[in-house]
Amino acid sequence: MTTIAVLPGDGVGPEIVLEATKVLQHVGALFGIPLTFEEGIVGGAAIDRCGTPLPPETWSLCHAADAILFGAVGGPKWDSLPVDRRPERGLLTLRKELGLYANLRPVRLFPPLVDASPLKREIIEEVDLLVLRELTGGLYFGEPKGIGPAPDGKGERAIDTLSYTTQEIERIARIGFQIAAQRRKRLTSVDKVNVLASSQLWRRVVTETATEFPDIELDHMLVDNCSMQLIRNPRRFDVVLTENTFGDILSDEAAMLAGSIGMLPSASLGDGPGLYEPIHGSAPDIAGQDKANPLAAILSAAMLMRYSLHHESAAAAIEAAVSRVLEAGYRTPDIWQPGPAVLVGTAQVGDLIVESIAKG
Ligand code: IPM
Ligand code: MG
Repeated sequence: MTTIAVLPGDGVGPEIVLEATKVLQHVGALFGIPLTFEEGIVGGAAIDRCGTPLPPETWSLCHAADAILFGAVGGPKWDSLPVDRRPERGLLTLRKELGLYANLRPVRLFPPLVDASPLKREIIEEVDLLVLRELTGGLYFGEPKGIGPAPDGKGERAIDTLSYTTQEIERIARIGFQIAAQRRKRLTSVDKVNVLASSQLWRRVVTETATEFPDIELDHMLVDNCSMQLIRNPRRFDVVLTENTFGDILSDEAAMLAGSIGMLPSASLGDGPGLYEPIHGSAPDIAGQDKANPLAAILSAAMLMRYSLHHESAAAAIEAAVSRVLEAGYRTPDIWQPGPAVLVGTAQVGDLIVESIAKG
């Protein structure tokens, strides 16, 4: 029996995770994969119920699970909390404590969505890249961190630390080269080598690691240039390897190449069970209104099948169903435009995907 920890979280998290779970249940039955789902509380929902964003029961559930399906965390209700007690801390602790250092964010334009993006068709057509974001280092976790008195006695000073070790860079670089080997064999490592010491080590270690992968074409790019090239010529990218904060920012930017941030799934892999979540946030403004696009969560469920359960045909079945439902013209508000497309809600998208998988 395979146990999937289900962590809906806040905002639109519960409604999109419900659709992804529906799809997993269906695919599990169809392919004879015995799955059990165990729900845990996390984020703001957990703060409200037990005062902490990652209660011990949720941690134990995740730690013992085969994979984790995650919704989203955060919202205005918890905005005044200090960073170490906010809903997001629940997610960050899971990533760090489970050793999930490799975050895969595939950016693929489904052809029917070529006009959904605010970017021109000729720029985004056939975009197919993957942002590989280092997930347990950098500014998110570096010490020292915090707010204290300014050394000159005037006001306060805030500190975040951007640190990386050789070992942390090497292991993510290896994953990057391995992923590139399965794709178009091109890896772009993104840094800020002209300013940051951490980037100097990053570039050196990535270059050294490249010698183990002679078939892969490696290039380096400064992060500011990369943010421009992603819009200017996104087809030039295959795998984009970068540190935690740069990856956070670049993947939101790259999401628009796929039409909407509501289309982008992710897999966080490493030592512990894989964690699968859409890259978007909790979108409190549309929560509970059946407006959220569940496709990022559903495509994350496909990644769960692929990377944690090693069930490629189940993953491919989900992805093919997403293509067919989009081809048939069904759209949530984030990807809808006036014209022949049919505007549908969150739950209906889940039902359409299940129906489409059943038909094959
Ligand atoms: C993401 C999110 C998270 C991050 C937040 C919710 C902490 O923006 O997964 O991209 O910054 O990593
Ligand atoms: Mg983000």
